[in-house]
Amino acid sequence: MSDARAPGRRLRSSRWYGKLDRDGFIHRSWMKSDGYPADLFVDKPMIGICSSWSDLTPCNSHLDEIAEYVKRGVWEAGGVPMVFPAMSLGETQMLPTTNLMSMAVEESIRANPIDGVVLLGGCDKNTPAQLMGAASVDIPSIVLSGGPKLSGVYRGEKMGSGTSVWQFSEAVRAGEMSIDDFLAAESCMSRSAGFCNTMGTASTMACLVEALGITLPGNAAIPAADSRRRVLAHLTGRRIVELVGEDLSPSRVLTREAFANAVRVCAAIGGSTNAVVHLLAIAGRLGIEFGLDDWDRFGKDVPLLVDLMPAGKYLMEDFYYAGGLPAVMRELGGLLDLGAPTVSGRPLRDQVATAERIGDEVIHAMDDPIRADAGIAVLRGNLAPDGAIIKPAAASDALLEHTGPAVVFESIEDFKARIDDPALDVDEDSVLVLKGCGPRGYPGMPEVGNMPLPRKLLERGVTDMVRISDARMSGTAYGTVVLHVSPESAAGGPLALVQSGDRVSLDVANRALELEVPQEELARRRAAPVSRPSEYERGYARLYIDHVQQAHLGADLDFLVGSSGDDVKRESH
Ligand code: FES
Repeated sequence: MSDARAPGRRLRSSRWYGKLDRDGFIHRSWMKSDGYPADLFVDKPMIGICSSWSDLTPCNSHLDEIAEYVKRGVWEAGGVPMVFPAMSLGETQMLPTTNLMSMAVEESIRANPIDGVVLLGGCDKNTPAQLMGAASVDIPSIVLSGGPKLSGVYRGEKMGSGTSVWQFSEAVRAGEMSIDDFLAAESCMSRSAGFCNTMGTASTMACLVEALGITLPGNAAIPAADSRRRVLAHLTGRRIVELVGEDLSPSRVLTREAFANAVRVCAAIGGSTNAVVHLLAIAGRLGIEFGLDDWDRFGKDVPLLVDLMPAGKYLMEDFYYAGGLPAVMRELGGLLDLGAPTVSGRPLRDQVATAERIGDEVIHAMDDPIRADAGIAVLRGNLAPDGAIIKPAAASDALLEHTGPAVVFESIEDFKARIDDPALDVDEDSVLVLKGCGPRGYPGMPEVGNMPLPRKLLERGVTDMVRISDARMSGTAYGTVVLHVSPESAAGGPLALVQSGDRVSLDVANRALELEVPQEELARRRAAPVSRPSEYERGYARLYIDHVQQAHLGADLDFLVGSSGDDVKRESH
């Protein structure tokens, strides 16, 4: 039965609430048990607020409060806000399950009578998971990040979440920091709710969704505890109602040009390597032609302008005071496609036109970059036929061209058992190689690629070595670390064939990663049977192992690539 009571363009929610039959009765009546008056079900945009709040995700623990400010804006603009839970991914507590959350988000949006959605996230994987899910439904959507934590301070020094942990942990292992000081520092790192305050994965993704045009300007850097974060939430609530009226869905904003902008911004901010798989996966949901090599193509020759940990010294709170992402994008100017549309309704050009760079320390000028070429480099060679990546901005310049003997670890357990063994045959020229940590292998492609250095080398003052794996690394980490080797070892990639003592050559300038072992020898090793019984016979891990794609394709599940739109084919009862 059609909706005779809803004039103008038919809202999606009227497919549920506009029916004057038994089904419409059920949809409206049960909602009325929450105290909604009857007129709210006629011609009012229903706005979902997809919240990744959870007590188990400390970076998102304030999102229930932020949601209240979004609600204010939605009510004010004439919409009806409905908060609904998505899965919540607490980076410090659980393995990455981005794809599972993206499925939950997609199905929750599609299955419910909502006309537009605010994606409320923060901690690392929540942002890409929410955007992947929303992209596969493609109703008007806007991202609102929870904002970064306030700067941590320990004994008068700035302490960055994540980065300082890696530094302090290595200092303890090198005998330079006592365990008492290490534990005292633990309480100083997080002064407020919010995501990690370094340019880790959460900050990177908050910046990249802003660069993609799917947030209001200023989203990335306003601290979680700052009242202006609440103002942004209010404005986001207002704007999503307008977006429904304009029928402005993600596919009209997230174009190839928008992804090119995001890659360039990622280079300029010294963003996390995790963004590589996330942007590839989001683009895959939208059917946009955007591949691994585009990271090199668009990011090449983009200077590093932002001096934030882990590559630099400042934190997100400083970044906000220095002008935030709009100031960076204004500085990049002609390197970006400033005509790209945004959810503000204005092109990117208008969003950054009045941005101001405050000081020269945190955000550098284009003619005074921290580094001339900061893009993530895509490597290829017989060790990574489908590609691998490295972030030169976080690496040691002296190691960007390096050949050395491999020290191989067959698994993360093997690594942990032997890395500090005084008898381990390793020196600073060695190349640490870790297998079995890709999407299928771990499973979940964990952030273990920034392998801690052997204790005996740390004690000798060695601070960096070439490390190679099929894993990811935390966006807060640093070092000459080659990641995302594809195909991964558990999928039969050449990484599985490396043995200790083999010479491995890294040449970032020429984008090469080679295993210097004769073809005949590699063929002989490949012929040897490898049996790896899976410990995962059921549940999500089994589904994931059977369907996850390799890193160079974005590590999405094969059956999630693409979109199913917003249509619900059958009634629920
Ligand atoms: Fe949540 Fe870093 S652990 S953002």
